[in-house]
Amino acid sequence: CDGGATAVAHPNIALIKYWGKRDERLFLPWTDSLSMTLDIFPTTTRVRLDAAAGQDTVTLDGVPAYGQTLRRVTAFLGLVRERAGLRQRAVVQSRNTVPTGAGLASSAGGFAALAVAAAAAYGLGLDARGLSRLARRGSGSASRSVFGGFALWHAGDAAGTDAEADLASYAEPVPTAGLDAALVVAVLDAGPKEVSSRAAMRRTVATSPLYRPWARSSGEDLAEMRAALLRGDLPAVGEIAERNALGMHATMLAARPAVRYLSPATLTVLDSVLQLRREGVAAYATMDAGPNVKVLCARADAQRVAGVVRAAAPGRAVHIAGPGPGARLTGG
Ligand code: DP6
Repeated sequence: CDGGATAVAHPNIALIKYWGKRDERLFLPWTDSLSMTLDIFPTTTRVRLDAAAGQDTVTLDGVPAYGQTLRRVTAFLGLVRERAGLRQRAVVQSRNTVPTGAGLASSAGGFAALAVAAAAAYGLGLDARGLSRLARRGSGSASRSVFGGFALWHAGDAAGTDAEADLASYAEPVPTAGLDAALVVAVLDAGPKEVSSRAAMRRTVATSPLYRPWARSSGEDLAEMRAALLRGDLPAVGEIAERNALGMHATMLAARPAVRYLSPATLTVLDSVLQLRREGVAAYATMDAGPNVKVLCARADAQRVAGVVRAAAPGRAVHIAGPGPGARLTGG
C-alpha cells in the first residue's frame, strides 16, 4: 500500500439549475440548485502522493492531461495540499465513462470523485458536507454528486467573510416520498461544446437582462420543487424542472452575444416529449450546457419514453438512468 485512495462518483442532472457565480474563486453561486445523481456514467479516480515528484501527474482514461484540464486539477490539488499542510505532489488516474464536455456533467462526477480520493490521500478527514464544499471548488455542480439520490446545493449567505461564505455553501440530500423517477438521456452531440459552461454563465450574469428575473423565479421554483418531491408528485417535479431549465436557456439566449446550446435535434426531441404528454405520459425535459436532452419520467414509463426519444433522434445514443449513489471511497 502506498497510501493512495480510490473513489467513485456519478454525474448529476440539475432539476433546478445552477447558472451563475457570485464568487468565481470560491465557486459561490447566485442561486440554490437541486439535482438527481445518476446511476450511470461513473468516474473512478485514484490519488496517491509522490514525495519525489516536482509536479502533479494527471491521467484521464490513460491519456496524460494537459492545458486547461491539468491546470484545473492541479489548482484543486493545491487547495487540498494547503488544507492538509502537505507539499507532496500527487499522481491522479481517472477513468470517466461520460462523453467529456458534451453537457453531460462529466465535471460533476469527476470532481466529486477527485475530492473524495484526494481528501483521503492527503488525510483531510472531512465528513460528507466538508467533501461537498471541497468538491464545489473543483466544479460547482460536483458539490451535489457527493450525495446520492436528490441533493440540494445551498448558495449560502451572500454576506460575511470568505471563510463564512465557504462554510455556508454545500449540498445535502433532500427528502422525497416514493418518487420512482428515471431520466432518459439522449446524447445528441457527444463532441466538446463551443462555449464552456463556466464562460457562458459568466457572460450571462454580466450581460443578460433576463438573468436576475430568472434567478428570482428559480428561488420560487426550488421551494415548489421541494414540496413536490416530498409529495412524490412526479408531474409537478417534471413541470417545475422543465420550466426552470427553459428559463435558464432563455437567460443565455438573451446574453450579449447570445449563448445557444440547443440544436435542431434538441427541439425535435422536445417535440416528442410534448407528444408523449399529449398521450398522457408524464415526461418532462431538461437541458444543460449542450444540446443533449434528459427526460424525467416514472421508471415504469422509461422504456416507452426511451423508444419515442430514439425515434425522434435516430442514430443517437439514448440511456436510461435511475437515482444513483453518492461519491464514496472504494479502495487504496
Ligand atoms: C448547466 O458545475 O460545470 O449543468 O462550477 O464552472 O465548473 P463550474 O460549472 P458547472 O456548471 C453546471 C451548469 C449546468 C447546471 C447544473 O448542473 O446545475
